[in-house]
Amino acid sequence: MRYLVTGGLGFIGSAFIRLLAAERPEVEIVNLDAMTYAANPANLAQLPAGARYRFLKGDITDPAAVAEAIGDGIDAIVNFAAETHVDRSILDPEAFLRTDILGTHTLLEAVRERGIARYLQVSTDEVYGDVESGESIESSPLRPRSPYSASKAGGDLQVLAYRTTYGLPVLITRGSNTYGPYQYPEKLIPLFVTNLIDDQSVPLYGDGLQVRDWLHVEDHARGILGVLERGELGEVYNIGGGNPRTNIEITRRLLEGCGRSFESHVRHVADREGHDRRYAISSAKAHALGWRPQIDFEGGLEATIAWYREHESWWRPLKSGEFLAYYQRQYAHR
Ligand code: DAU
Repeated sequence: MRYLVTGGLGFIGSAFIRLLAAERPEVEIVNLDAMTYAANPANLAQLPAGARYRFLKGDITDPAAVAEAIGDGIDAIVNFAAETHVDRSILDPEAFLRTDILGTHTLLEAVRERGIARYLQVSTDEVYGDVESGESIESSPLRPRSPYSASKAGGDLQVLAYRTTYGLPVLITRGSNTYGPYQYPEKLIPLFVTNLIDDQSVPLYGDGLQVRDWLHVEDHARGILGVLERGELGEVYNIGGGNPRTNIEITRRLLEGCGRSFESHVRHVADREGHDRRYAISSAKAHALGWRPQIDFEGGLEATIAWYREHESWWRPLKSGEFLAYYQRQYAHR
């Protein structure tokens, strides 16, 4: 078996490759990654010896790079390659449309031309938009409200259209907010933990009462593998952590874990534009495939804080250069 994993140097993609390498030794892995700002070869420094792994630098919007990665054949494509950060999409939407919509289109064309047996699109619960009450199920309407989530919804709709029009063997997963080791420090949890380790303040948007459903990255990777192996073609599967928390609750946990106080270290800043108040998904369909998150949230968060403490050499170089320019642009005026 040979799988093409795109975006495999990112946060969730690299967790998926580590899982494949550890538990599916029969699978040969090709990783196609454009190496944009959040990609990091250090995420895969720990691959088991002898893992059958090949890396190719290339962009999923480039048909030649995709053809090279497919080579003389591939059994499945799992597409993690995406622009993923909502705040960056508000500053500069174009890259999101390119990678998340056009990149998906390029991969789907390759699946069509080469007759690839399985294509899995890694998507997000953000495509359902703000969920005032209850939970979104896979057939709920898509109401994305940020350039990021609109670009992911555009990708999902292309995938489903290729199923209807050409009968392609596709699957979609929609994951909830993911946390754990190796997450680029622009997202809430790694940004706040690394700021707190450095005795800096943390910028909490608005009233901090927005709700996100937290899922450990290893559980997310397992959910994607379960859907890839056992999902029904043409179907969408929500993958949620089942751990709804307000941002203030998360912030308090992180402050506690880093030995800092709310009063001295939280900076209340202007809200994110168009900020979705709440995400909530039902994962009953993924549960029916036999998947359940294994990592308890309180323990997982504690272990994540410890991981960032113990891996300064991983994140410290990331909080310089391009990151500082972005941080300034995103937060200085708030
Ligand atoms: O729900 C899945 C999505 O989760 C993924 O599709 C996205 O790729 C991923 O970025 C994440 O989106 P969020 O916008 O929810 O994640 P983020 O870590 O940026 O923010 C989490 C919450 O924390 C959100 O309500 C905004 C808030 N926040 C975030 C940052 C970076 C703050 O209050 N201050 C901050 O500085």
